[in-house]
Amino acid sequence: MKALVLAGGKGTRLRPITHTSAKQLIPIANKPILLYGLEAIAAAGIREVGMIVGDTADDIRAAVGDGSSLGLKVTYIPQDEPRGLAHAVWIAKDFMSGEPFLMFLGDNLIKDSLKPLVERFERDKPHAIILLAPVPNPSAFGVAELSGERIVRLVEKPKNPPSNLALVGVYLFDKTVFDVIPKLKPSWRGELEITEAIQMLLDEGKTVVYRKIEQWWKDTGKKEDLLEANRFVLMEMSKDEILGETESCQIRGPVKIGRGTKLVRCRVTGPCIIGENCHLEDAVIGPFTSISFKSRIIKTEIHHSILLEEVRLENLPKPLTDSLLGRGVQISRDGTREGSLILMLGDQGEVQL
Ligand code: TTP
Repeated sequence: MKALVLAGGKGTRLRPITHTSAKQLIPIANKPILLYGLEAIAAAGIREVGMIVGDTADDIRAAVGDGSSLGLKVTYIPQDEPRGLAHAVWIAKDFMSGEPFLMFLGDNLIKDSLKPLVERFERDKPHAIILLAPVPNPSAFGVAELSGERIVRLVEKPKNPPSNLALVGVYLFDKTVFDVIPKLKPSWRGELEITEAIQMLLDEGKTVVYRKIEQWWKDTGKKEDLLEANRFVLMEMSKDEILGETESCQIRGPVKIGRGTKLVRCRVTGPCIIGENCHLEDAVIGPFTSISFKSRIIKTEIHHSILLEEVRLENLPKPLTDSLLGRGVQISRDGTREGSLILMLGDQGEVQL
């Protein structure tokens, strides 16, 4: 079995971060989301991965390379435009060369092992397996209608959802999927939808089976989802790993502090992670906070947030919470312009006061 990882797309819901970087490379607990998926694929025993890339191809290549460090062999498949998940499958047809494959959306994070799915596919040889997860807001997802153990129908973002079971971004297909994709028409959003391709397999009487996931899963399309995914992953941390220096600090774990990082008079409440070569002074950090490398935090309180690398925060008058800050963001208060806000924000930047 091969794998197909989708790391193209536009990421419009994560602007402005996605103006300059791939959403699949946003760090969760200081590791790019995409790497969690690739590690899960390697752990399921798959070696050959086709990686769909778009405008951010260079960044993805720089992060993943040929995949050998993960025990994978990665082949890049460029997609000219994000024309939909089924389009991404279609352009991987030659790469798959008739073999079954596991398709993984590069911005999804899933705790369940992929191994049982691969084993079931190899044992039962259905035409497709989909993964389903109960969600509180099914209207935001592709949703499955079931009758007993049978999938009756799949609907994309339904106004009146037939169930609370959303399609997770992991699918297994055999080569039959390539017979139905040419029959698809672009949906209202102009994309070739994988949900419609699976519906066509069902309509043609092919064997499409499902598995409900047992642990957590997150589609990290929006800031709130990234923060939640970050919280889930940090909650799995069980012990401290303090490689940096701490001076007069109060630390309640589990906390990870990277090499070359120094904390002076800080209070840190885990779970949280602070990357390498950061400097923090008189700061209050955590819980559920990830700070990437080379950041500088002075006299500032941060909770439930993700900071990318080289962020500088100084003297913030109020705690920073539920926030996602991109690379090199600087926020400070120097006291000389009390009563004013002075901002320089990228396109689609967002500030809530
Ligand atoms: P989506 O989250 O559905 O789309 P998107 O990344 O364009 O985001 P937005 O809706 O905010 O604009 O995509 C799911 C995953 O599949 C994600 O990793 C991007 C990838 N993808 C492709 O590689 N090619 C495509 O044509 C599409 C639609 C998505």
